[in-house]
Amino acid sequence: MAPQESATNYSEPEYAKSQDKAEAPFYHPDIKHRLVPETQELLEKYSHVPREQQSEHVHTIRDRAWEIRAWEIRAYPCIGLGSWLTPQLCRLPVYDDILKRVKDGALLMDVGTFVGHDLRRLVYDGAPSDKLYGVDIVNHFDVGYDLFRDREYFKGHFIEADILSTTSPELMTLKGRVDIIVVSQVLHQWDWDNQLKAAQTLVSFTKPGSWIVGNQIGNPKAQTVSLMSRSTALWRHNPDSFANMFEAVGDATGTRWETQAWLRTFEDMGWDAEDGAWMEPEVRIIEFVAKRVS
Ligand SMILES: C[S@@+](CC[C@H](N)C(=O)[O-])C[C@H]1O[C@@H](n2cnc3c(N)ncnc32)[C@H](O)[C@@H]1O
Repeated sequence: MAPQESATNYSEPEYAKSQDKAEAPFYHPDIKHRLVPETQELLEKYSHVPREQQSEHVHTIRDRAWEIRAWEIRAYPCIGLGSWLTPQLCRLPVYDDILKRVKDGALLMDVGTFVGHDLRRLVYDGAPSDKLYGVDIVNHFDVGYDLFRDREYFKGHFIEADILSTTSPELMTLKGRVDIIVVSQVLHQWDWDNQLKAAQTLVSFTKPGSWIVGNQIGNPKAQTVSLMSRSTALWRHNPDSFANMFEAVGDATGTRWETQAWLRTFEDMGWDAEDGAWMEPEVRIIEFVAKRVS
């Protein structure tokens, strides 16, 4: 599929341009310890990949994903570290409610879906796949079908689009219709202004009663940081600044949101403590649930 010509230059964080495996601080050659029991079960029972083949399978898929080049090189830390193999969405406290809503017919859109791993977990847990949408600026979807071996029966919809661009016709059809937006490990790549802009765009897909849930890199001290001596400024949220952002988003969009957000360590997430070593001190993960009240 052709890359999105409309992709905006601020969608590309500087750190993702580093794609040489040997130099990237977030490419770990061996990620088999990421095959936690939930993921082993998913691959065995959903994808029919026998346990003894799973390590080779995920390493092959990870390297294919790492090498994908769209209109720019995209070598995201989560790809190299294999953190996508540790379940995130299904460990959120509201996961059972999300699953119930989707089983009852709600539409769910996973923004920055990568290989669609959270969508497959929902399907394994009983969600109808045709209610699921995965959006990503890069097409990792074919690699995802190969990872999960479900091209024939996964009926979810994948849309290759920059979430900050509203020109994708497929994306436009979802405006005001999405009940649950999942956005994990995406918004942190922008500064405050662009996170605000991205959050406003996400809101345009919602309606009263919709939720926006997920996680991103955070810090107990809300602040601007710049990583790997590169100039891109990134905004780090703590729970207060995250709530402030949704206040501002509400004011700008004429909507009202109730937000809950909390910080976790990398170990809490089931990741390795040193996964964050290339970032600023005290780095954490901020998880959030924002509910649209009106
Ligand atoms: C770090 S990965 C996170 C993957 C997954 N959500 C997770 O938490 O495991 C970030 C993903 O967001 C996608 N992405 C980055 N900028 C985007 C944009 N502007 N619009 C849509 N997707 C984007 C990347 O291509 C990548 O697949």
